[in-house]
Amino acid sequence: MKKKHDEMICTEDLTFEYIRRDEEGNVEGITTAVDDVNISINPGEFISILGHNGSGKSTLAKHFNALLYPTEGTVWVDGNDTSNLQNLWNIRQEAGMVFQNPDNQIIGQIVEEDVGFGPENIGIPTKEIWERVEESLKAVGMYEFRKNSPNHLSGGQKQRVSIAGVIAMHPKCIILDEPTAMLDPNGRKDVIRAARALNQVENITIILITHYMEEVIYSDRVYVMDKGHVEMQGTPREIFSQVDRLKELRLDVPQVTLLAHELKMRGLPLEDGILTIEELVDQLKKIRK
Ligand SMILES: Nc1ncnc2c1ncn2[C@@H]1O[C@H](COP(=O)(O)OP(=O)(O)OP(=O)(O)O)[C@@H](O)[C@H]1O
Ligand SMILES: [Mg+2]
Repeated sequence: MKKKHDEMICTEDLTFEYIRRDEEGNVEGITTAVDDVNISINPGEFISILGHNGSGKSTLAKHFNALLYPTEGTVWVDGNDTSNLQNLWNIRQEAGMVFQNPDNQIIGQIVEEDVGFGPENIGIPTKEIWERVEESLKAVGMYEFRKNSPNHLSGGQKQRVSIAGVIAMHPKCIILDEPTAMLDPNGRKDVIRAARALNQVENITIILITHYMEEVIYSDRVYVMDKGHVEMQGTPREIFSQVDRLKELRLDVPQVTLLAHELKMRGLPLEDGILTIEELVDQLKKIRK
């Protein structure tokens, strides 16, 4: 029989409230961080989530591996209802999370030990742990650093080791919550390249939360959040075609998209939603002819 929810991730009328209480336990205030969100993410998709600070991205993402449970509504991860405690084990293994600060995520003294912690914790046999460590470090381009101390790595390298630690659990889905926010431009590129490779080569579902618009253009689909709601969704081209709407939501567009938009406003016959320099050059060449 077909499962009711065969998406990788599905939320139905998801609402989450943070409740602040005083010392006696009386409710002092409620913040509705996620407000009636319905999304569905299919296996193998590369999804980006955008939104201004405080729009609810992290709160939403924490529902995807049962770090938070819905106040109202339901979340399914690979068909498992996250509110059902019996599913916790499955969910945590299938959906791994990478956070902003790599220093908080690495615990091992040596890179390969760190990557092996997860599989060790779930009782994977030693021989297989080493196989997983090797394959995971190779997948993120960090194998040659396997004997190093994580302390001596750059931020981008550390972040790739964190990702390797997640891959070693053989997840179906990886959620990256601003993984590049603390990195330099090269570190950012390497981390995004690693995430794209996992998506394309291993078919792992990727959910990327980011403030860098340039990182979004590779995704299959984008969700834009504001005040706990999903305000926009579509392909990167559909989203970035709406420059004025994005400005209302206090978001940027990629620089080349903005330039193309400005040129169009000044009368050049360009299409909306140009995402790369190559696309802009192609269209400018056509005008000259
Ligand atoms: N632990 C918490 N307790 C109370 N309120 C919280 C908590 N974490 C977040 N919030 C509030 O919930 C709302 C959504 O926060 P969230 O961190 O999910 O947003 P975000 O989109 O991830 O923001 P950012 O871009 O800054 O990471 C905000 O109003 C925030 O102040
Ligand atoms: Mg956040």
